[in-house]
Amino acid sequence: MTKFEKICKNLDQTKELAYKFAKLVEKDGCFINLYGEIGAGKTAFVKLVAEAIGITEKVTSPSFVILNEYHSANIPVYHFDLYRLENEGVKTITDELREYSEGRQITFVEWAEFSQNEIPFNHIKINVTYDDEDNRKYSFEGFGQDCIEIVKGLE
Ligand SMILES: Nc1ncnc2c1ncn2[C@@H]1O[C@H](COP(=O)(O)OP(=O)(O)O)[C@@H](O)[C@H]1O
Ligand SMILES: [Mg+2]
Repeated sequence: MTKFEKICKNLDQTKELAYKFAKLVEKDGCFINLYGEIGAGKTAFVKLVAEAIGITEKVTSPSFVILNEYHSANIPVYHFDLYRLENEGVKTITDELREYSEGRQITFVEWAEFSQNEIPFNHIKINVTYDDEDNRKYSFEGFGQDCIEIVKGLE
Protein backbone atom coordinates (compact mmCIF):
# COMPACT_ATOMS: atom_id res chain seq x y z
CA MET A 1 0.00 0.00 0.00
CA THR A 2 1.22 3.45 -0.78
CA LYS A 3 -0.24 6.87 -0.15
CA PHE A 4 -0.11 10.29 -1.78
CA GLU A 5 -1.82 13.47 -0.64
CA LYS A 6 -2.35 16.71 -2.49
CA ILE A 7 -3.97 19.93 -1.38
CA CYS A 8 -5.73 21.71 -4.23
CA LYS A 9 -6.47 25.33 -3.44
CA ASN A 10 -8.82 25.80 -6.39
CA LEU A 11 -10.36 23.93 -9.30
CA ASP A 12 -7.33 24.69 -11.51
CA GLN A 13 -5.05 22.83 -9.13
CA THR A 14 -7.50 19.92 -9.05
CA LYS A 15 -7.41 19.96 -12.84
CA GLU A 16 -3.63 19.72 -12.81
CA LEU A 17 -3.83 16.73 -10.46
CA ALA A 18 -6.57 15.05 -12.52
CA TYR A 19 -4.58 15.48 -15.75
CA LYS A 20 -1.53 13.92 -14.11
CA PHE A 21 -3.66 11.04 -12.83
CA ALA A 22 -5.23 10.58 -16.28
CA LYS A 23 -1.81 10.13 -17.89
CA LEU A 24 -1.08 7.29 -15.47
CA VAL A 25 -4.31 5.36 -16.05
CA GLU A 26 -5.28 6.10 -19.65
CA LYS A 27 -3.30 3.24 -21.16
CA ASP A 28 -4.16 0.25 -18.95
CA GLY A 29 -7.15 1.51 -16.99
CA CYS A 30 -7.89 1.29 -13.30
CA PHE A 31 -10.65 0.75 -10.74
CA ILE A 32 -11.08 3.78 -8.50
CA ASN A 33 -13.22 4.27 -5.41
CA LEU A 34 -14.02 7.81 -4.38
CA TYR A 35 -14.90 8.71 -0.81
CA GLY A 36 -15.89 12.03 0.72
CA GLU A 37 -18.99 13.93 1.67
CA ILE A 38 -21.46 15.47 -0.75
CA GLY A 39 -19.91 18.46 -2.49
CA ALA A 40 -16.35 17.41 -1.68
CA GLY A 41 -15.23 17.10 -5.30
CA LYS A 42 -15.58 13.45 -6.31
CA THR A 43 -17.57 14.08 -9.48
CA ALA A 44 -15.46 17.15 -10.26
CA PHE A 45 -12.36 14.94 -10.31
CA VAL A 46 -13.99 12.35 -12.58
CA LYS A 47 -15.06 15.12 -15.00
CA LEU A 48 -11.51 16.44 -15.20
CA VAL A 49 -10.00 12.99 -15.77
CA ALA A 50 -12.58 12.37 -18.50
CA GLU A 51 -11.68 15.70 -20.14
CA ALA A 52 -7.97 14.84 -19.90
CA ILE A 53 -8.34 11.53 -21.73
CA GLY A 54 -10.35 13.18 -24.47
CA ILE A 55 -13.95 12.24 -23.75
CA THR A 56 -16.14 14.41 -25.91
CA GLU A 57 -19.51 13.61 -24.34
CA LYS A 58 -20.79 15.81 -21.54
CA VAL A 59 -19.86 14.16 -18.24
CA THR A 60 -22.57 14.45 -15.61
CA SER A 61 -23.09 13.08 -12.12
CA PRO A 62 -24.59 9.57 -12.17
CA SER A 63 -26.27 10.07 -8.79
CA PHE A 64 -29.76 9.60 -10.28
CA VAL A 65 -28.97 7.04 -12.97
CA ILE A 66 -26.39 5.09 -10.89
CA LEU A 67 -24.10 4.48 -13.89
CA ASN A 68 -22.87 6.62 -16.76
CA GLU A 69 -20.57 5.30 -19.45
CA TYR A 70 -18.42 7.09 -21.99
CA HIS A 71 -16.93 5.58 -25.11
CA SER A 72 -15.56 8.54 -27.04
CA ALA A 73 -11.96 8.27 -25.82
CA ASN A 74 -9.37 5.54 -26.45
CA ILE A 75 -10.40 3.78 -23.27
CA PRO A 76 -13.96 3.36 -21.94
CA VAL A 77 -14.93 5.13 -18.73
CA TYR A 78 -17.61 3.81 -16.36
CA HIS A 79 -18.79 6.10 -13.59
CA PHE A 80 -20.98 4.71 -10.78
CA ASP A 81 -22.66 6.60 -7.96
CA LEU A 82 -24.12 4.14 -5.44
CA TYR A 83 -25.51 6.68 -3.00
CA ARG A 84 -29.15 6.16 -3.90
CA LEU A 85 -28.85 2.37 -3.90
CA GLU A 86 -27.38 2.08 -0.39
CA ASN A 87 -26.41 -1.37 0.86
CA GLU A 88 -29.48 -3.33 -0.17
CA GLY A 89 -29.81 -1.93 -3.67
CA VAL A 90 -26.22 -2.64 -4.61
CA LYS A 91 -27.28 -6.24 -5.24
CA THR A 92 -29.07 -5.05 -8.37
CA ILE A 93 -25.84 -3.89 -10.01
CA THR A 94 -23.25 -6.43 -8.81
CA ASP A 95 -22.97 -7.87 -12.33
CA GLU A 96 -22.06 -4.48 -13.77
CA LEU A 97 -19.62 -3.76 -10.94
CA ARG A 98 -17.89 -7.09 -11.56
CA GLU A 99 -17.82 -6.67 -15.31
CA TYR A 100 -16.27 -3.22 -15.04
CA SER A 101 -13.65 -4.27 -12.54
CA GLU A 102 -11.80 -6.58 -14.94
CA GLY A 103 -10.35 -5.66 -18.27
CA ARG A 104 -9.23 -2.45 -19.84
CA GLN A 105 -11.32 0.48 -18.72
CA ILE A 106 -11.33 3.25 -16.16
CA THR A 107 -14.04 2.64 -13.58
CA PHE A 108 -14.92 5.24 -10.94
CA VAL A 109 -17.24 4.42 -8.04
CA GLU A 110 -18.67 7.16 -5.83
CA TRP A 111 -20.08 5.92 -2.52
CA ALA A 112 -18.21 2.66 -2.72
CA GLU A 113 -19.01 2.30 0.99
CA PHE A 114 -22.13 0.54 -0.24
CA SER A 115 -20.31 -2.06 -2.31
CA GLN A 116 -17.54 -3.38 -0.05
CA ASN A 117 -17.81 -6.97 -1.27
CA GLU A 118 -17.76 -6.08 -4.94
CA ILE A 119 -14.57 -4.06 -4.89
CA PRO A 120 -11.66 -5.74 -6.69
CA PHE A 121 -8.45 -6.12 -4.69
CA ASN A 122 -6.51 -4.04 -7.21
CA HIS A 123 -7.89 -0.56 -6.88
CA ILE A 124 -7.13 3.00 -5.93
CA LYS A 125 -8.94 4.71 -3.10
CA ILE A 126 -9.34 8.47 -3.35
CA ASN A 127 -10.60 10.33 -0.30
CA VAL A 128 -11.66 13.95 -0.77
CA THR A 129 -12.01 16.36 2.16
CA TYR A 130 -12.54 20.10 2.33
CA ASP A 131 -12.40 22.85 4.89
CA ASP A 132 -13.32 26.03 3.03
CA GLU A 133 -14.81 27.14 -0.30
CA ASP A 134 -12.28 25.97 -2.89
CA ASN A 135 -9.71 24.15 -0.79
CA ARG A 136 -9.72 20.36 -1.24
CA LYS A 137 -7.46 17.58 -0.06
CA TYR A 138 -7.20 14.55 -2.36
CA SER A 139 -5.65 11.48 -0.71
CA PHE A 140 -4.71 8.49 -2.87
CA GLU A 141 -4.06 4.96 -1.69
CA GLY A 142 -3.07 2.14 -4.03
CA PHE A 143 -3.90 -1.53 -3.45
CA GLY A 144 -2.14 -4.13 -5.58
CA GLN A 145 1.15 -3.65 -7.44
CA ASP A 146 -0.16 -1.80 -10.51
CA CYS A 147 -2.19 0.63 -8.43
CA ILE A 148 0.72 1.23 -6.07
CA GLU A 149 2.80 2.19 -9.12
CA ILE A 150 0.12 4.59 -10.31
CA VAL A 151 -0.02 6.34 -6.94
CA LYS A 152 3.79 6.54 -6.84
CA GLY A 153 3.62 8.17 -10.26
CA LEU A 154 1.69 11.08 -8.77
CA GLU A 155 4.59 12.08 -6.52
N1 LIG B 1 -10.38 22.69 -5.62
C1 LIG B 1 -11.54 22.14 -6.03
N2 LIG B 1 -11.56 20.85 -6.45
C2 LIG B 1 -12.72 20.27 -6.82
N3 LIG B 1 -13.92 20.88 -6.82
C3 LIG B 1 -13.96 22.15 -6.42
C4 LIG B 1 -12.79 22.84 -6.01
N4 LIG B 1 -13.13 24.10 -5.66
C5 LIG B 1 -14.44 24.19 -5.84
N5 LIG B 1 -14.97 23.05 -6.30
C6 LIG B 1 -16.40 22.82 -6.56
O1 LIG B 1 -16.92 21.93 -5.60
C7 LIG B 1 -18.01 21.19 -6.14
C8 LIG B 1 -17.80 19.72 -5.95
O2 LIG B 1 -18.97 19.05 -6.35
P1 LIG B 1 -18.99 17.54 -6.79
O3 LIG B 1 -17.73 17.19 -7.48
O4 LIG B 1 -20.26 17.29 -7.51
O5 LIG B 1 -19.03 16.80 -5.35
P2 LIG B 1 -19.27 15.27 -4.98
O6 LIG B 1 -19.31 14.47 -6.24
O7 LIG B 1 -18.12 14.92 -4.10
O8 LIG B 1 -20.56 15.25 -4.23
C9 LIG B 1 -18.08 21.57 -7.62
O9 LIG B 1 -19.07 22.54 -7.78
C10 LIG B 1 -16.69 22.16 -7.88
O10 LIG B 1 -16.69 23.11 -8.93
MG1 LIG C 1 -20.80 13.18 -7.00
